[in-house]
Amino acid sequence: MSEAAGTPTDTPIDSLAVLEARGTTAEAFGIPLAVLAELTHRCPLQCPYCSNPLELERARDELTTDEWKRVLGELAGIGVLQIHFSGGEPAVRKDLTELVRHATDVGLYSNLITSAVLLTRGRLRALADAGLCHVQISFQGSDAASADRVAGFRNAHAQKLDVARWVRELDLPLTVNAVMHRQNLHQLPDIIQMAVDLDADRLEIANVQYYGWALKNRAALMPTLAQIEDATRIVEEAQARLKGTLAIDYVVPDYYALRPKKCMGGWGRQFFNISPTGKILPCHAAETITGLHFESMRGNRSIASIWRTSDAFNRYRGTGWMPEPCASCDYREIDFGGCRCQAFALTGNAANTDPACTLSPLHERIFRTAEAEASGEVSRFVYRNFKGGTPEADTHDDA
Ligand code: SF4
Ligand code: FES
Repeated sequence: MSEAAGTPTDTPIDSLAVLEARGTTAEAFGIPLAVLAELTHRCPLQCPYCSNPLELERARDELTTDEWKRVLGELAGIGVLQIHFSGGEPAVRKDLTELVRHATDVGLYSNLITSAVLLTRGRLRALADAGLCHVQISFQGSDAASADRVAGFRNAHAQKLDVARWVRELDLPLTVNAVMHRQNLHQLPDIIQMAVDLDADRLEIANVQYYGWALKNRAALMPTLAQIEDATRIVEEAQARLKGTLAIDYVVPDYYALRPKKCMGGWGRQFFNISPTGKILPCHAAETITGLHFESMRGNRSIASIWRTSDAFNRYRGTGWMPEPCASCDYREIDFGGCRCQAFALTGNAANTDPACTLSPLHERIFRTAEAEASGEVSRFVYRNFKGGTPEADTHDDA
């Protein structure tokens, strides 16, 4: 904001406020370059930290092949360059190869985010022939027994290793995705070595983010501060040692950070995803926030129009909606107040400052609860499924 507008000179530069004064901020950001297509919520795995909403969308309501093709064509037409096929497990859809081919035909770079357990060598080759550009495989740990326990699926780890090797045999770039928590952080050095041995290009080490299923399982998943400090040291050493061999991305858990992450790059700024039934969402967990209406591609509006003008996107766009302490904070255009889903999950109001921020009045209380959970006794999971979750059987020996 300029001095001519009568603003005191010590007010931080707020380019978004200027854009908001002129009209919609969406116009300033344009259509995202990459979009996440959640083809289905069905998945053979049952990870207790799944980022899908607790209320999973049913197969009978999913977009048809033709509807997804229409989505892909529309996305390419408005300037999107990359499509991430995700889920649930996208390979549950029998039309996956057809959709990848269509993405190729309309000029989209395609990435498959998969648990891998439904992929055969033949199916993977067909996907590569259809123009698939990149594969990202999620791993639940470095040893079969504990990884299969987290996934709630027997023999998953061994199958993932096979598929990862086939990916490289087909000369497709591979990203290994490892979600970390209290019960697998000790495996981090082995996971890094596993990614090197699999000839992965990239390793994404993401600490669990606590909303949806992960919030339900927070007491079993929350790491201790000592674990996070160890992990950060291990990652930094590996990043230096493996420079040029393996790129390593690392996401610290919010609960142990001073400031929250710039979730989704800021609500409605550079990301949207499409749910299995065609809803256009500002983030993959947005439906955990009640009271927002998310429009569908099945309605009579274009995706571009929903992105620009729908209430769900505009509600938390920019900085104008912010309460204190965000409203007058110098970081407001750096982290955009953190994560709306986390603010809702922990405070019941998505418009509150994300309590991961130390400036939030709720931070101290929430951090203390997390600390207590991290050193607590709970280790059994509630597995993700369409029944609203199933508690892990007693056969697991609580450590
Ligand atoms: Fe970010 Fe708001 Fe915390 Fe400032 S007060 S650092 S804008 S979350
Ligand atoms: Fe939804 Fe952060 S996960 S805004």
